[in-house]
Amino acid sequence: MPEVVVRSTENGPNLVVLDGKVVAALCRCGGSSKKPYCDGTHRKNGFQAAAAEVKVL
Ligand code: FES
Repeated sequence: MPEVVVRSTENGPNLVVLDGKVVAALCRCGGSSKKPYCDGTHRKNGFQAAAAEVKVL
């Protein structure tokens, strides 16, 4: 069974990690022009959030 983890990076996106490989970076700052994906805007808009990790499967 594949392992799926959502890793919230410090001051950055939520990474979807499948079997140890990042398969998507999802915006959580609200500033991306490519939602739902992160486009790096969080580095410019002052977004701050703690890191966290949740194992989904
Ligand atoms: S988290 Fe990267 S642009 Fe929003």
